[in-house]
Amino acid sequence: MSRSRLLLAVCTVASFGCSPARVATEGASQPVVLGPWLMFPGAREMTVAWTTAGPSLGRVEFTLVGPDGRPGSQQSAQEFAPVVDHRVRLEQLTPGARYEFHLASNPAARGSFTTAPDPAATASSRAFTVLVYGDNRTNGGDHALVVRAAAAQGAALALHTGDMVVNAKDQRAWERWFDVERDLLSTTPFVPTVGNHEITDKGVTYSRHFKEPGRPAYHALDYGNVHVQVLDSFEMQAGADAHTGGVSDAQKAWAEADAKSVPADHHLWMLVHQGPQTHPLQMRQSHGGLPGVRELISMVQKVHPVEAVFAGHEHFYERGEVDGLHYFVLGGGGAPLEDPDPAGAGVKLALKQLSFATLSVCGCHVTGRTLDILGRVVDSYTLSDCDTPCTDVTVQAATAPTFDGGVR
Ligand SMILES: [Fe+2]
Repeated sequence: MSRSRLLLAVCTVASFGCSPARVATEGASQPVVLGPWLMFPGAREMTVAWTTAGPSLGRVEFTLVGPDGRPGSQQSAQEFAPVVDHRVRLEQLTPGARYEFHLASNPAARGSFTTAPDPAATASSRAFTVLVYGDNRTNGGDHALVVRAAAAQGAALALHTGDMVVNAKDQRAWERWFDVERDLLSTTPFVPTVGNHEITDKGVTYSRHFKEPGRPAYHALDYGNVHVQVLDSFEMQAGADAHTGGVSDAQKAWAEADAKSVPADHHLWMLVHQGPQTHPLQMRQSHGGLPGVRELISMVQKVHPVEAVFAGHEHFYERGEVDGLHYFVLGGGGAPLEDPDPAGAGVKLALKQLSFATLSVCGCHVTGRTLDILGRVVDSYTLSDCDTPCTDVTVQAATAPTFDGGVR
């Protein structure tokens, strides 16, 4: 049992002697300050997170929504003790199913999510979409435009490339960030990586809101047949600070060992803030590709192919390929835009544009699109293909040209 599970309790109203009336009253006594947001997604589990102004006993009511749109019987999960930072794990869920939930709060904050596909299901017939974006940097107006367009894509999972706020010590900035992200966070499980701006308070607030207690910021996530290594390119244990990246030998060894556990037919992606390659038109100190990340990737590549690396840190969009590695820079999430160098080595496309990407996964097929704030496709690519057809009609309709084609 993981450490987080020790902190959480799951029960139905009919079992464990839960007292809905008492819990609802205690939960309602404290207003929700941040959230809710969704963490640690799986085929059979999801964690609902939120914060309240003072300690309260968190409780989540949730319902499976059938394919016909009809809700099933209501279930509930709750915490054992009053807390401010709530984490309620919903377990024994149905894979690939839609759920609606609400907090026992006043007013009742609501949301929904879809669980990950069952990894044992026929890989060619189960499809899902992943959103990738980042670098919001407390630039509210542009951040809101990106998130609104991104949320409209209805992705099942959101990966964030880091740098949510300018100054992590600024609690008002975090409140604004959560407020702007509200619609996306309440409907899409959220998996971020640490940006350099997240360690301007030594990573305290990031850890409080997004990290699993007692574990490094780097970790891995299995979602259907995709394995995501979430790296920490500003690892303080490696000497990194808010201005200089760093990756420890321990993280590199972990990534290599973790890759050995990934089935050969699964997609291996990496999510990192400062990536292996990037080409700003005007290079600044601590920008460009990070050698430690490149070294980590080369170690992993010897064990399992890395299908793509998704990074941020530079405030533009860049897609490229260097030594067979497909990399993305998705830093157009609201921060003041910068100029990329489209003539950089390996660059396929570079745009100074607010943008985000969606990846459609269907068995061995992975296609992607990069969109602007009006939902217009500015780039499309294929990351993986094979002879086995994708039988999901929604993905067939979105099949894109090959990666190298760079067709827009
Ligand atoms: Fe950054």
